[in-house]
Amino acid sequence: MPNGTNALDRRLNHELDAFRRDGVYKRLIHIESPQAPRVRMEGRGEVIVLSSNNYLGLANDPDVVAAGKRGLDEFGAGTASVRFICGTFTVHRDLEAACARLVGTEASLSFVSCWNANEALPATVLTDRDLILSDQLNHASIIDGIRLAKSITKCQTGVFRHADLDELDAKLAAAADREIKLVVSDGVFSMEGSIANLPGLLETCRRHGALLWLDDSHATGVLGTHGRGTAEHFGLLGEVDIITSTLGKALGGAAGGFVAGSAALCDYLTQRARPGLFSNALPATVAASALKAVELLEAEPVRVDRLGENTRYFRERLVALGFRPLPGDTPIVPVILGETAAAIRMSELLLDEGVFVTGFGFPVVPQGEARVRCQISSAHTRQDLDEALEAFARVGRGLGLI
Ligand SMILES: Cc1ncc(COP(=O)(O)O)c(C=O)c1O
Repeated sequence: MPNGTNALDRRLNHELDAFRRDGVYKRLIHIESPQAPRVRMEGRGEVIVLSSNNYLGLANDPDVVAAGKRGLDEFGAGTASVRFICGTFTVHRDLEAACARLVGTEASLSFVSCWNANEALPATVLTDRDLILSDQLNHASIIDGIRLAKSITKCQTGVFRHADLDELDAKLAAAADREIKLVVSDGVFSMEGSIANLPGLLETCRRHGALLWLDDSHATGVLGTHGRGTAEHFGLLGEVDIITSTLGKALGGAAGGFVAGSAALCDYLTQRARPGLFSNALPATVAASALKAVELLEAEPVRVDRLGENTRYFRERLVALGFRPLPGDTPIVPVILGETAAAIRMSELLLDEGVFVTGFGFPVVPQGEARVRCQISSAHTRQDLDEALEAFARVGRGLGLI
């Protein structure tokens, strides 16, 4: 049957038309230059980027790019099979040692994305004798990972209200019979920019003999004086049982993720995690770039300082203009607008002013809490930030927001 004429395509086209009518249709924007504080946007020219996870400006760092090229020369373009069948490149081993060192665990195991890592972890290690409890605002990859674990292993699952340690405490108390109790939280909540109460989570978990799994995707390279994440931020390096994180944000922004924890955990995942057993590893070029990104972070923590300074500068001036971003200390600065269409409208108007910042609506964020989410980078200059703020002022006045 020609494309577009079968029953599925008809149904999908009908729904796509509804997305357009409701003003919630996402248009992909094409970029003709590397990710950087300013990019060249197809059909529009140069714009300031306030919507990328390039927190440390490493996505196009010359050393990170050169390491990828060397990786290509040294290991070729393809991994050619999964790791246990066809051999695993030494660069993967080096990367995994570097990630474990960075986040303060005994070992780590890489995956092609943190999504993949989050899907692999609970479904591989939990059983029907166990329980996993998840913060209500955790990332979609954790939610899907738990759904998968529930359907495969029949583990017990539960959700606690966002950051509500009392509810977590009660749910753990009610599950004293469970062999393993695993609690999972984002380190930094990606849509709010808020930081998990790690001391509180750890204390609650310890009291109930539960383990803590932290997804530090928006914290690695960002929090702590050396960018080692949420644990460093709270002076608790080495205390978190399991950390998952991405290589696709501060650490070069290409792709890849990892599970970090005990040697036994990483060994067991190597034996049994289906994404690793049945799917190729991270391309060596990407692994080489990510390894260089970790090394740069370790050698030059000044990038993390600059990120903090830029964040404070942008946040203070945005507030001075009359905006009320969600409070916080991370480079994620969300401005809540309410309806999805309002957030998309604001992002379109900002783009007309030369500032690229994405509007998020339901189902990415709760209904009625649509927002534009600004993300700051250590690579932004004061001029980048000032020009972006001027655009916010013009658009905010035009929309009657300030
Ligand atoms: C908290 C969190 N976990 C996991 C991911 C997925 O990371 P990756 O792009 O490596 O799959 C993201 C990305 O948005 C995230 O914000």
